[in-house]
Amino acid sequence: MLYDRMNRSIGYLRLSITQACQLRCIYCRPALHQNHTDGMLTPAEFGQIAHHFILHHGVQKIRITGGDPTARGDLPEIIGTIATGHSDIDLAMSTNGLALGRLAATCKASGLKRVNISMDTLDESTFERLSGRRGVGQVIAGIDAAIAANLAPVKLNMVVMRGINDGQLASMVDFAAQRNITLRFIELMPMGPLAPNWHQHYAPAASIRRSLEPLTLSWRPLEQGAESSRNFRVVLRDGREVSLGFITPMSCNFCGNCNRLRISCTGDIFPCLMNRPRGTLLPALRPKYDPLRFDALLAEALAAKEAEHPHDGFAVMTSIGG
Ligand code: 5AD
Ligand code: SF4
Repeated sequence: MLYDRMNRSIGYLRLSITQACQLRCIYCRPALHQNHTDGMLTPAEFGQIAHHFILHHGVQKIRITGGDPTARGDLPEIIGTIATGHSDIDLAMSTNGLALGRLAATCKASGLKRVNISMDTLDESTFERLSGRRGVGQVIAGIDAAIAANLAPVKLNMVVMRGINDGQLASMVDFAAQRNITLRFIELMPMGPLAPNWHQHYAPAASIRRSLEPLTLSWRPLEQGAESSRNFRVVLRDGREVSLGFITPMSCNFCGNCNRLRISCTGDIFPCLMNRPRGTLLPALRPKYDPLRFDALLAEALAAKEAEHPHDGFAVMTSIGG
């Protein structure tokens, strides 16, 4: 196992495989963000990184992120190289869902276990205001393809923004209940283009829960496990049940049990989502894989892993994927 200087064990690796994304979400992506591809790691290099963490450091949980991972044509190959020989690990992916209608079955066949899909609204004009284009139908088709491909448990992630999509809570809960999938509400973080108006749009988990009370009869807390969300089995007033969760990067002590390490698509090491990279793995990958060098670079980066995130982000989410 790997430990940082606060003695938090690092058991969860997040690999961002591209900065490119089909969307321009206002809480994430600067309008002029480049979709550049210089120096991107190859599928074999992602495989090497994953295998190093699995074999040398006991990592059992890996998530493929972006940008949007589906923006890379070689996504199935990347999944395949990571999964080969390691069918036991929890290999997940985060995506905006737009391309899952086309890709869910292929991803599953390549070794992906499950997906989290970002879905902030079911209303087309809100979707367009948030992300720069229309796409609700396509995301729903993606969600249904993921369910059909058994990329389970399928989870939806909704960033809740006061005055933008907080009127969509009831329809999102209804959607999740219909499909029997988990819906998680994420507190807005002050990153990306919306950061200057963060105060105006931030909705703490407590207020989200309050807005949901009229819809619900009871909330039973579920085991937290290693998850970053606090989950509940909720009985709705119409008698249906649904699993809801809260991801609270802003209102709760979220960082105290942080077990994550992030690697960008060019090999940069990000010990914290909201801080600058602390080195790069490239010298341990090129010209050829060097496990000792790899561990030396990791040790250096982990020594710099912050106790908690700063209030104002450094990185744009789009380059390191949530
Ligand atoms: N605040 C909270 N979550 C964010 N994400 C991106 N930007 C932000 C932000 N400013 C995360 C969410 C979202 C995914 C695309 O990235 O998880 O669903
Ligand atoms: Fe939106 Fe996610 Fe793309 Fe950022 S990476 S623009 S949040 S879909």
